[in-house]
Amino acid sequence: MATLKAVRGTRDLLPPETELWNRIETTARAVFARYNFGEIQTPIFEDTTLFARSVGEETDIVSKEMFTWEDRARAQSEKTQSLTLRPENTAGVVRAYIEHGLGESGQLQKLYYIGPQFRRERPQKGRYRQFWQIGAEVIGPPSAGSESPLRDAEVLEMLATLLDELGIKGWALELNSVGSAADRAKYNDILRAALIPVVGQICQDCQRRAVTNPLRVLDCKVPEDQPIIETLPKIGDSLGEDSKEHFAAVTAALDSAGVTYKLNQRLVRGLDYYTRTTFEFTHGGLGAQNALLGGGRYDGLSEAIGGPKAPGIGFAIGLDRLVLTIQAQNLAQKAAPTQVVDAYIAPLGESLNAVALVLARELRQAGLRVELGDGSFRLKKSFEAANKIARRIVILGEDEHRSGILTVKDFATGAQVKVPRGELVEFLKG
Ligand code: HAM
Repeated sequence: MATLKAVRGTRDLLPPETELWNRIETTARAVFARYNFGEIQTPIFEDTTLFARSVGEETDIVSKEMFTWEDRARAQSEKTQSLTLRPENTAGVVRAYIEHGLGESGQLQKLYYIGPQFRRERPQKGRYRQFWQIGAEVIGPPSAGSESPLRDAEVLEMLATLLDELGIKGWALELNSVGSAADRAKYNDILRAALIPVVGQICQDCQRRAVTNPLRVLDCKVPEDQPIIETLPKIGDSLGEDSKEHFAAVTAALDSAGVTYKLNQRLVRGLDYYTRTTFEFTHGGLGAQNALLGGGRYDGLSEAIGGPKAPGIGFAIGLDRLVLTIQAQNLAQKAAPTQVVDAYIAPLGESLNAVALVLARELRQAGLRVELGDGSFRLKKSFEAANKIARRIVILGEDEHRSGILTVKDFATGAQVKVPRGELVEFLKG
């Protein structure tokens, strides 16, 4: 029988790598808490329409990368429904914001999430079909200040802080404004017209985009197209006064906070809901997939999916890419030392297995990290197993069981001592 493997684009995360994942999550949660964010968890699948209306029908994500299926009705009360594994989490958060009337409090909602997302992309380093995002959204009614450029600057400053606290060196913040919905529409028309004379010289994908969604041409990575794209009109020239002022306030606040950035007028992002500020944090060590995270403002998203006016801004970090970056920097070992087991308990004989379990339970309840051997092992085998993972081995033979005095060997010093059971926890913690 052919052996079964993880599906293309998915992978298993194993220890000790998972320790690094957990450390990153813990750091992110701590930083988010300091900025007064709370955690939200939304379902992993949603109605397909949600993504079509928010991310946009014409985007690569919706047009070719979603895992979508027809969910058959199981009862008369149910309808057959098109469902999709979430390709991103902003749409789900905004749906939940509307569904639970979170705007009614009049307060800004500051929500973060950590979880898997799914896109049927061509797998490569840093690009998977199941990948993890750590993201956050700041959303609320305009009266709560949700449109303020201060919110943009605060989110960006928080991201700089988080990357610094994770010890990531050499990240770059790329920043742009794609303007209001009206500015974008105007720019799309200008771009469409500018593309007509050059359409024969650009790649097939761009030829299609030139008609359906000209803005997407700016995302093109095909090297031969780049000189042509560089000559196209710039979005900055299509921004209205409001958008320009908003963006100037964002950059001024970043300047005063000392957060450095690079302006990149081609940064229009691959999702249709963006308005005004857009950004990416990139890292040179990642290769082709160099975006560690991306985000921006989405002032019209709530209304686009049937909700009240609720401007917002957010981001999502590619957790897989964060891990790759930290590993490449060799921070992994320093930051997440391989966990060493405090004690390995070696029962001598199967009749002592149950006693060993009780002893392990006591030690674990006292907070020690304990590995439990097996009474069927010869002593030599127990020593070998223990020596690989534990600082000390605790030998539990008939004598030790009867006398209540255990034999403990310390692998670092080679010393072997007798320790009364009542003093074992203290001894192992020392
Ligand atoms: P996005 O740019 O599509 O934005 O994804 C954000 C980040 O997720 C990327 O920068 C990248 O690090 C990671 N990522 C995306 N696709 C993959 C993949 N196939 N494999 C590994 N990592 C990947 C969003 O998803 C928006 N929802 C962000 C946002 C939140 N905008 C506003 N609020």
